[in-house]
Amino acid sequence: MNTRKTLSVALADRSYDIIVGHNLLRDAGQLIDPIITHEPVIVVTDDNVAGHHLGTLDLALQSAGIASTVITLPAGENTKDYDGFHNLVTSILDIGPERRSTLIALGGGVIGDITGFAASVILRGIDFIQIPTTLLAQVDSSVGGKTGINTQHGKNLVGSFYQPRLVLADTGTLDTLPRRELLAGYAEVVKYGLLGDKAFFEWLEKNADALIDGDETLRQQSVITSCRTKANIVSRDEKETGDRALLNLGHTFGHALEAETGFGEKLLHGEAVAIGIMMAFDLSTQIGLCPVEDTTRVRAHFKSVGLPVQPTDISGQAWSSTALLGHMAQDKKVRDGKITFILTRGIGNAFITSDVKISDVEALLDKAIAA
Ligand SMILES: NC(=O)c1ccc[n+]([C@@H]2O[C@H](COP(=O)([O-])OP(=O)(O)OC[C@H]3O[C@@H](n4cnc5c(N)ncnc54)[C@H](O)[C@@H]3O)[C@@H](O)[C@H]2O)c1
Ligand SMILES: [Zn+2]
Repeated sequence: MNTRKTLSVALADRSYDIIVGHNLLRDAGQLIDPIITHEPVIVVTDDNVAGHHLGTLDLALQSAGIASTVITLPAGENTKDYDGFHNLVTSILDIGPERRSTLIALGGGVIGDITGFAASVILRGIDFIQIPTTLLAQVDSSVGGKTGINTQHGKNLVGSFYQPRLVLADTGTLDTLPRRELLAGYAEVVKYGLLGDKAFFEWLEKNADALIDGDETLRQQSVITSCRTKANIVSRDEKETGDRALLNLGHTFGHALEAETGFGEKLLHGEAVAIGIMMAFDLSTQIGLCPVEDTTRVRAHFKSVGLPVQPTDISGQAWSSTALLGHMAQDKKVRDGKITFILTRGIGNAFITSDVKISDVEALLDKAIAA
């Protein structure tokens, strides 16, 4: 199937389109041409993605007559730090950008986040376009305008809300993505069903295997539904003062797990989110909010696709509930000293609360790391 779907993120004069489709990269030149007012456009990518997809983008820009220059960063989360940011900004300033210049982020969430942040501060803000190439970036990080870098104090602690001018999600680029990365992104797809769309979760239960194995139609549908949900939430609550926090389902626990494992290869973000979602469901069941059948059903789904569901699924890691709780207390989502949780009354029925007894959380953590 080669349908294209355009969704819009409605944010007054900062509104933008998300185009989802197969082989969009080939037509990227025509698609971005209306936005470009100054050349060269500056493409930022990483060395993995460059090997797979930069050639196609280059050709597309050339055939639309758009001059471009490329900055290639090392692949991996380590690029998203002060040094990586300094290098990127220096490389961009060396090119001599103007206020009308445009950056294009071609890559996963790392490239999207650091490029978006650079765009937000260079010359007090220049345009940027997201071309996400991981499932995680297509359904999550490229949409919504959160940009930033990691510091020694934690992930994404320095950054800005800065919306792209356009998002091009070419589901064909996922064909080169390692399966483990694809699955990690899939955990975020499931999250959209769990937080407010039970029918989507049921659709995923039916279609997950084929989708993961490469069915293009199903991949497009899942990206479209995910982006639509995120776009709607972001349009309502750009700066996360209200229900945008629902998107953090599984993330308070997940970030604590990632912090303990050092934000590296041992536990990918999406894997941490899968475990974190299970912890949120287990806690909700433990305190009498969520039917145990729903929790069992979600766990079975994650397991069936091969995602981890509990901390002890990560081999070679010793866990401490005190350490995990310590990380949770430092999370950005802490407000007035209270940890915000996204809990659930069942599949498709998540809600935000700061009203959780720490003793309940401790009991949950103890159980989770003993499992
Ligand atoms: N801004 C947000 O709202 C938001 C939301 C979620 C996550 N994030 C951030 O996103 C980052 C994680 O994103 P990610 O999972 O995309 O990681 P990533 O950018 O590191 O990409 C994962 C790996 O896949 C490789 N890769 C990317 N596309 C590929 C392709 N098509 N084929 C082959 N290899 C490819 C990359 O080089 C990298 O090695 C984290 O830094 C996280 O904090 C941001
Ligand atoms: Zn996430």
